[in-house]
This record gives sequence, structure tokens and C-alpha cells, in this order.
Amino acid sequence: MTSNAPAPMTQDQLKEQVGRAALEYVIRGEIVGVGTGSTVNKFIDALGSVKGDVRGAVSSSEASTQRLRALGIEVFDCNEVEEIAVYIDGADEIDASGYMIKGGGAALTREKIVAAQSRKFVCIADASKRVATLGGFPLPVEVIPMATRRLIRQFEAIGGTAVLRMKNGEPHLTDNGQHLLDVRGLQIVDPLGFEIEVSQWPGVVTVGVFARQRAHVCLLGTAAGVETLSYPEPDESPS
Ligand code: A5P
Repeated sequence: MTSNAPAPMTQDQLKEQVGRAALEYVIRGEIVGVGTGSTVNKFIDALGSVKGDVRGAVSSSEASTQRLRALGIEVFDCNEVEEIAVYIDGADEIDASGYMIKGGGAALTREKIVAAQSRKFVCIADASKRVATLGGFPLPVEVIPMATRRLIRQFEAIGGTAVLRMKNGEPHLTDNGQHLLDVRGLQIVDPLGFEIEVSQWPGVVTVGVFARQRAHVCLLGTAAGVETLSYPEPDESPS
């Protein structure tokens, strides 16, 4: 017996769907902030089809810069731009407050910088990224190489297991020439407090918890279509 039900959408199709949906948030004639990763690649491809409508982009990685330029989109340095209206980026996990884990693609430091320079963070993600508590995805942390061993021990002391990310038998170097730790076994119940604490550990460049730079909106790709989730400012939350 054959079924007429449409085949479920693949993760790639869900990413395509939210990548296209994000175009709605791009302000015509302005510079858009662009993140990094496979979901953002779909957004960049969609942006290519309306490139005449934007002034250009600020990019969070060499990989995104290359892709943008290949499509004829001008890429500006952060320092050439005062403020960015909208930043579009993916996430490895996002919780009910718009707090995220990011950095699976190693671009967390530049992502946090561009996000901090932007008025609005629009997260694009497939439904598998939505979680109740952050920490299931190994937490990326960019670190100064001379601090790597000590930071591994410091994560151990709070119950995490940190491993140095490797590539072709060598430590994976970020676009900034630093190392990355991936930390398993943490349940991050207070993302803001955690981010503030770990960011102060000597040798930490960037922790992949995005709490201060959380999402304002998330376009979540689901089998039923794109769900738009908005996150109120803490003082606007229902009491
Ligand atoms: C890149 O460093 C990350 O922060 C990405 O935003 C995140 O890993 C999501 O990537 P995908 O869209 O490839 O899942």
C-alpha cells in the first residue's frame, strides 16, 4: 500500500525555509549582520537573490565572508560601521528565553562581537535546536592556547569534561588563531550568571553561551512551517 502523505522535510529543507524567512527582517538599503554555519549559508544564498536591496554585510567569519563575496555582496569591517540594525545567525541550542549555545562552527567570538553591535538578533534554526535547558550540546569555548590545560581542569572542577577541538591531528585554530574547548556534562540553568562567570576566567576569549547577546526573535523551522518566537525583555515578562 502506498501513502499519499508528503515526505517529511529534511533538516536541510527546514534550514532553507528559515534562511528564506529571515529575508523579511533585512532592512532595505542597510547593512545586515551575518552569522556563520549551515543554516546561515541558506540565508546568504537567499540574500544573494535580493542583493541589490542591501548596502552590504558585516560578517562573523572568513567562511561567511567568502560566501557573501562570491555572491557579489559587499562585506564591511565591523570598525567601518557604527551600529547594525539586524543580525541573522544560527544556534546550536536555544531555550525558552532566547539564550543560546553557539560556536559549533568555531565562529563564536566574531559572532558575539557582531551580535553586540546589532540592535536585533534574529536566530534561525531548525526545530531540533530548541531545548529546555542549555548544555546538551557540548559548549564551545575559545581559549588562549597557553591556558588550555588549566581551563580543562577548571571546567572539571565545575563538573564539565572539556576536550581540545582537533582538526587533521592538530588543535583546531579559530579565525583568531586561538584554541577551542568543547565542554560536555554541564547543565546551564543560569545562562547569564554562567556567561559572566566563565568569561572572567583568565585565558577564556569567549564562552559559547549567548545570554547577554541572546536572540530577540527565533525563526524555528518545523514540519508545520516557520514558527516565529519572540522573547520579551526580562522586565516585560509576565509576573
Ligand atoms: C557557528 O560558530 C555557530 O555558532 C553556528 O551558529 C551554530 O553552530 C549553528 O550552526 P548550523 O546552522 O550549522 O547548525
